[in-house]
Amino acid sequence: MADYAFFQKQFMPLSEAKIGILTHALHYGTACFEGIRGNWDSKQNRFCLFRIQDHYKRMLDGWRILKIKLPYSVDKLCQLTAELVERSGYQEDVYIRPLAYKSSEAVGVRLHNLNDDFLIIVTTLPPYLDAENGVRCCTSSWRRVDDTMIPPRGKICGIYVNSALAKTEAWENGFDEAILLTQEGHVSEGSGENIFLVLGGKLITPPSSDNILMGITRDTVMKLAKNELGIDTLERQVDRSELYVAEECFFTGTAANVAPILEIDRRPIGTGKIGKVTAKLQKLFAEVMVGRNAKYSDWYYLVCAKPVKV
Ligand SMILES: Cc1ncc(COP(=O)(O)O)c(C=O)c1O
Repeated sequence: MADYAFFQKQFMPLSEAKIGILTHALHYGTACFEGIRGNWDSKQNRFCLFRIQDHYKRMLDGWRILKIKLPYSVDKLCQLTAELVERSGYQEDVYIRPLAYKSSEAVGVRLHNLNDDFLIIVTTLPPYLDAENGVRCCTSSWRRVDDTMIPPRGKICGIYVNSALAKTEAWENGFDEAILLTQEGHVSEGSGENIFLVLGGKLITPPSSDNILMGITRDTVMKLAKNELGIDTLERQVDRSELYVAEECFFTGTAANVAPILEIDRRPIGTGKIGKVTAKLQKLFAEVMVGRNAKYSDWYYLVCAKPVKV
């Protein structure tokens, strides 16, 4: 199956979508993106674009931060994405990557007096973290960028150098993922995931003021925990050592889904096995993300697959 793109206002095979080497975003990271899952339901022959409106709302916040001006509403962006997924011909889970970027071929660091453009790619994504067996993490020697440096509430391309430094350091030291602390030493998040702890039976997660991306999976998990398990989540500052004494820990993210953390800084978390609350949330999330639970229909944008030609 060929990967497809919406690029320069047209749908085309990904192999034909090219940008010039002087493009501003390539040099200065002046772009922002989203990661959206299209979950394939083989029984219904359709995709569930999970919380796509929320992803595009967050993307428009990033546009405001970067002074990106483009004539697309959330509804239009959803329609374009649905058409791209349909045209791609995939009949399996897909990963959708929209990107808005400073497209002028111009040298000079700035946000003003530049053209903006928008593209979408649809592709597949191999498992990002081992959510089935759990992951081993370290606390990164890199600190999470602060809102006063590059605002982490936007998925701004340049900010991902911070994530990449942390991820590669963790990987080279034999860990699966890094946990970044804020400048003040509080737990912020993983390189591409939000983090939760179960402590004293309660769910705890760092607040937006600790420089996290306001994750859509994070929000989904908080709502599922409350509605389905009767567990409230406390959004509050988290100390590094609280991770070590937590009963359970897990990551949430579009790429990672709900991924149990079994070990941090060579200390087992809880029993060192997948915890009960984590396992329940993993199951609930897996059911809801394919789009079959009518209670959460506001989160679903359903796209029927084109009939396959034989
Ligand atoms: C830095 C960072 N934190 C958290 C997340 C999780 O956010 P979401 O659940 O919206 O995918 C992501 C992934 O998008 C991320 O890149």
